[in-house]
Amino acid sequence: MGELITLSIIKADIGSLAGHHITHPDTLAAATKVLAEAKSKGIITDFYVTHVGDDIQLIMTHKKGVDSPDVHGLAWEAFKAAAKVARDLGLYAAGQDLLSEAFSGNIRGLGPGIAEMEFEERPAEPVITFHADKTEPGAFNLPLFRVFADPFNTAGLIIDPRMHVGFKFEILNVYEGKKVLLKSPEEMYDILALIGTPGRYVIKRIYRKDDDMIAAVVSSERLNLIAGKYVGKDDPVAIVRAQHGLPAVGEVLEAFAFPHMVAGWMRGSHFGPLMPVPQRYAQCTRFDGPPRIIALGWQIKNGKLIGPADLFDDPAFDETRRLAQNIAEYIRRHGPFMPHRLGPEEMEYTTLPHVLEKLKDRFVVDVQAMREVEKYKKRPGSESEHE
Ligand code: F6R
Ligand code: MG
Ligand code: MG
Repeated sequence: MGELITLSIIKADIGSLAGHHITHPDTLAAATKVLAEAKSKGIITDFYVTHVGDDIQLIMTHKKGVDSPDVHGLAWEAFKAAAKVARDLGLYAAGQDLLSEAFSGNIRGLGPGIAEMEFEERPAEPVITFHADKTEPGAFNLPLFRVFADPFNTAGLIIDPRMHVGFKFEILNVYEGKKVLLKSPEEMYDILALIGTPGRYVIKRIYRKDDDMIAAVVSSERLNLIAGKYVGKDDPVAIVRAQHGLPAVGEVLEAFAFPHMVAGWMRGSHFGPLMPVPQRYAQCTRFDGPPRIIALGWQIKNGKLIGPADLFDDPAFDETRRLAQNIAEYIRRHGPFMPHRLGPEEMEYTTLPHVLEKLKDRFVVDVQAMREVEKYKKRPGSESEHE
């Protein structure tokens, strides 16, 4: 077996320019300096720092495996250095995602989002890293399902013998911290029954069934669940390996040609279309959005990051972007109404409950309506019947 390499993306919003719009170049420079020093000391093999919207993205390769205290500690230092610059410049929400003052060996649960995978480098190793802003980890459910389970998206599921047996999906219940491993195609309907609720069930990892090779990983941190209050959306990242017995780069990108509805956007409280954009448009404007995503294409050679290719920088995605604008225009006209605004369960993790709390004592009993409620409760089969 060849040498194992780990690809880690660790991202955080440590403050941004003009509200939650875009990172400041000086904060990226501060993070870059920390990672460059670590590279010269051999802690990491290679790195690339970029942004999408107000999130700094640290893309790193190393030989320390996933959940390495060295690598997580390094990311923490880089974010702290960037947050200091953000504070000095008076950037907005400086330090936002660094929920704790102290690092304790693992960055998970402290605010930043993480997607990491360890693998044996193939002779040629094409990888795509996805970075989204103003949405949540479940935003990857639909496109990743299509990439790895839907032959109408991925021709290789029919044609390529190594993919023909299908893939395994590790799905996480982010509210309960439980996971389940389901197989496609035989358990496809069960997979969909879960991941169709993307706020709760998140595709975490995908493995090729043929040999258990890891093919994809998604960040699953839910910042608002961790913090217990709304502190920004959990703008997600993902890593997808491609080609040679895995979906081709074009099959992976194909799933993003449909700008599906995701939760996030303004105040993390609205559904809107996920718009694939080139790096130069990776900033949120209209109604703090619409939610957007970039795709960076890499070859990894001896742990070196060769690239990136800015994969959505192509007129082939112009129509997707146009459709996203039309959807944005349509759904925006709903203003504060569902289904533009998120449903009550998700709103519990925003600032709306404070408003509802204020109104609590102003509610009085409506006799007629209360009678109907009582009648309903007494009906056979209603929950209170069995109380
Ligand atoms: C969404 C987001 C923004 C902010 C909004 C209000 O993830 O970051 O839409 O929620 O700009 O921000 P505050 O409350 O900081 O004024
Ligand atoms: Mg922000
Ligand atoms: Mg963000």
